[in-house]
Amino acid sequence: MDVVIVPTPAEVGEHAAAVTARLVAASFPEPVLGVATGSSPLGLYQGLAARVRSGQLDLARARAFALDEYVGLPDAHPESYREVVRRTVTEPLGMDPARVRVPDGNASDLDAECRDYERAIVEAGGVDVQIVGVGVNAHIGFNEPATSLASRTRVEILTDETRQANARFFDSVDEVPRRAVTQGLGTILDARNVVLVATGAAKAAAVAAVVEGPVGARWPGSVLQLHPAVTVVVDEEAAARLELADYYREMARARGDVAG
Ligand code: GLP
Repeated sequence: MDVVIVPTPAEVGEHAAAVTARLVAASFPEPVLGVATGSSPLGLYQGLAARVRSGQLDLARARAFALDEYVGLPDAHPESYREVVRRTVTEPLGMDPARVRVPDGNASDLDAECRDYERAIVEAGGVDVQIVGVGVNAHIGFNEPATSLASRTRVEILTDETRQANARFFDSVDEVPRRAVTQGLGTILDARNVVLVATGAAKAAAVAAVVEGPVGARWPGSVLQLHPAVTVVVDEEAAARLELADYYREMARARGDVAG
């Protein structure tokens, strides 16, 4: 993994946007993005949107697949990932809504929807750049602890911890759905590149598990250690429990990722 530690959340967004834009350029003009929701990637999306506005990046023909979606929230609910992706990705990045897909968490046959979703990703040629955040328990997408490391898109039951963490987007924790459709860990591993962003002290344990922990289902994001092209961009707080932080800083300087 390329681990890049920067001082502030704003710099996480800017650096991750630069990395993503460079990877996307390699697949121009029809890159396939994998997009995460949550707070973590918002700065990254803002950085990409600025490049689109200035004409450095054109995503008009790009495709995107969301990582996940709640089961049972009305499509128009402001916290459905369909809406979050429209608001934070599709519109600001100037993407064609017809080329952006989010799993349908209200499908009458959810298993069929999951199979269709997998097929659609393959038919698009696979994901070029998968953007991921990480939960406090190191979930990626909504792959909670004990997920098979080879899992595919499916319905997952959310842990109490995840529902509590996401309660801030709802009036109360009772309104947070109990189930979600999520790309599996195996699905995420199929992406050609992965960019993981995390900020804040609450993510420090998860980041340490993803980067340095044993690979295992207790901390699902640790499976990214098996992927050959992962960039992890974190702020100082999220990096606080990395044992080898100084080494990562030295490597980042040697690669030219950060000045100094
Ligand atoms: C959510 C999403 C994930 C996201 C994670 C962290 O529940 N399903 O895709 O990466 O939890 O969210 P945040 O970035 O808001 O901390």
